[in-house]
Amino acid sequence: MTEHQLHLRAPGNWINDPNGFIYYKGKYHLFYQYFPYAPAWATMHWGHAISSDLVNWTHQEIALYPSKYWDKNGCFSGSAVQENGKLYIYYTGVRYEEITKEDIHHCVNEQFESSQMMITSNDGIHFDNFKDKKLIIPPIVDASLGHRTHTRDPKVWKSEDYYYMVLGSTLDEKKGILLFYRSSDKENWEYLNSYESEDPSFGWMWECPDLYQTEEGWVVCLSPMGFLKDGDKEQNHAICAEAEFDEQTGTLKMAETYQFADYGLDLYAPQSTLDEEGRRVVVGWMRMPRPVSDEKPWIGMMCTPRVAELRDHHIYYRMHPNVEKAFTKEISQVEELEAGKPYQLKIALDDGESLSLGGYEIYRKGNKIGTNREKVYEGITNCRLSFETPELRENARLNILVDRNLVEVYVNDGEYVISNIVYDLKEDISLPEGKKFILKQMCN
Ligand code: FRU
Repeated sequence: MTEHQLHLRAPGNWINDPNGFIYYKGKYHLFYQYFPYAPAWATMHWGHAISSDLVNWTHQEIALYPSKYWDKNGCFSGSAVQENGKLYIYYTGVRYEEITKEDIHHCVNEQFESSQMMITSNDGIHFDNFKDKKLIIPPIVDASLGHRTHTRDPKVWKSEDYYYMVLGSTLDEKKGILLFYRSSDKENWEYLNSYESEDPSFGWMWECPDLYQTEEGWVVCLSPMGFLKDGDKEQNHAICAEAEFDEQTGTLKMAETYQFADYGLDLYAPQSTLDEEGRRVVVGWMRMPRPVSDEKPWIGMMCTPRVAELRDHHIYYRMHPNVEKAFTKEISQVEELEAGKPYQLKIALDDGESLSLGGYEIYRKGNKIGTNREKVYEGITNCRLSFETPELRENARLNILVDRNLVEVYVNDGEYVISNIVYDLKEDISLPEGKKFILKQMCN
């Protein structure tokens, strides 16, 4: 089985969202949206990878694939919980109503139905797609509640006596909405409540919601479609905000100010779980504009796991300590770096300073950090090339991870992160003169 270090990526062909992320029976399980036959989005399966440390990943057999009337055209995103040693996976089953004879993998005119489904497994390795699937929430018929086609991505969690589910949906394809359900037995779900934003620019449909409690309060994450905040272009972006949530009534209040989950704007559909130590750990899909042509072409990868923390009304995404620990080999001179292997660079930037990592540029202007990938993104048009954090709360300390197709710039221990997909990264590195830095690689 294919093994990956640092970044989990498609084992060949296409992947998108992280799904069913969970620490279960002493291992991390990360499933993902997967099309196994071509490097492009099509009929969704759930691929599966396992790790004992969130750094080294081994791909497993395909876990979920279409097998029932309700999911015959795809097993869309979802999440996992466990109870008494059993794994419960919740996902969205998709059934197309209109296709052309020439392409069974895409539907025509957005004519499809979505239902919420579950599948159980006793070991998290074997999934019986014929015996162990159940329909739990049929397609929505009441348009004032949500949408028959665009209701998906169940995120389930347990709290006290109940299990809760949040779904992303739309009102009339005009406005995003979240739907909350509750269950006492994990199979029978009752509708509880919904949440819509007052702000009309928050997109027409909300994908991949996540809602969790931290020591300082609740955090909500959404991936709104048609989010109008990136210039004039309508785009889908992952955002997060501080929130209040009353589990008794399913009442959500989302703070007016939001953050991007990542300021490189490539990251989408993040999903969280609790790690071995009870930290809230998040991974997100890094969207790529074209496949990488290795022996087997592949497209789509995951960011490094991040620990989400709410501090002083701001959501931090700091580097997971296991990632930090994986870089053990200190390198004193840039020239000693072993080519082609990921490295970590720690450096503080003063106003006006900049650096270049194989053509990828990072600079500080005033109290913001910016990045520019134009030299390592050649031939890709209509995409953003430069990025910036908002004003920083403190001085700019950077902790940067550089891998072949992904650079992640953690600023001030996760105050902001800019992660960018890159292609053809060169080997030359130039740092501000006379500046202290720490450079590391992994040992194996
Ligand atoms: C987000 C998304 C989800 C859906 C899945 C389908 O990227 O569109 O809403 O479940 O991908 O692959």
